[in-house]
Amino acid sequence: MNRIILTLAAVMAMGFAACAQNRGESNMQTESKPLVVYFSATGTTAKAARTIAEITGGTLYEIVPQQVYTADDLDWNDRQSRSSVEMNNPQARPALKYTKPDVAAYNVIFIGYPIWWDQAPRIINTFIESHDLKGKTLVPFATSGGSGISNSVKELRKAYSDLEWQDGRLLNGSSRNAVQNWVSDVMTKQSHE
Ligand SMILES: Cc1cc2nc3c(=O)[nH]c(=O)nc-3n(C[C@H](O)[C@H](O)[C@H](O)COP(=O)(O)O)c2cc1C
Repeated sequence: MNRIILTLAAVMAMGFAACAQNRGESNMQTESKPLVVYFSATGTTAKAARTIAEITGGTLYEIVPQQVYTADDLDWNDRQSRSSVEMNNPQARPALKYTKPDVAAYNVIFIGYPIWWDQAPRIINTFIESHDLKGKTLVPFATSGGSGISNSVKELRKAYSDLEWQDGRLLNGSSRNAVQNWVSDVMTKQSHE
């Protein structure tokens, strides 16, 4: 009798294990690849974006301004420079060069930018307002000269409170391994939601 009970218990345990495994597999099959959108004026954020796209197998999409930022435009010591003027005006919406990527196919969208005056550059607002991002998981990432990402994410959350923002990550000098660990956390969390 004892042996029968033990055998039954073993068979049930194997069944549960198989179920758990199947669940894991089906998650992996249905988990969609992310879209990795970024704006980069001088190439640093672009590098981080490429790493995320490589690791996730996601689609890379560069936000290109209709009018490229020159070195003069980026001079933060000049209060009249284009970037200073834009960042001083919360309503500024620099135009995009290209029309939209098709965001509909993606559940997770990484959005990368350089920190400008502790915020996301205004062209990020242009991008957000030009696409239907409702229901997407939005994952900010940034590079900076030292400032953190949290104020920029706070501002984005405040401006677009109907969208689903994750806390995001500053990727200054992050090793590929560190990016991989973070991205894998983000994607795993997403696949269990
Ligand atoms: C207009 C402007 C404002 C900036 N403001 C900040 C800032 O507030 N804090 C900071 O740490 N770095 C600041 N930076 C530095 C950039 O965030 C940093 O160099 C970033 O890595 C550049 O990324 P990119 O090469 O992708 O454009 C600023 C740079 C520019 C051009």
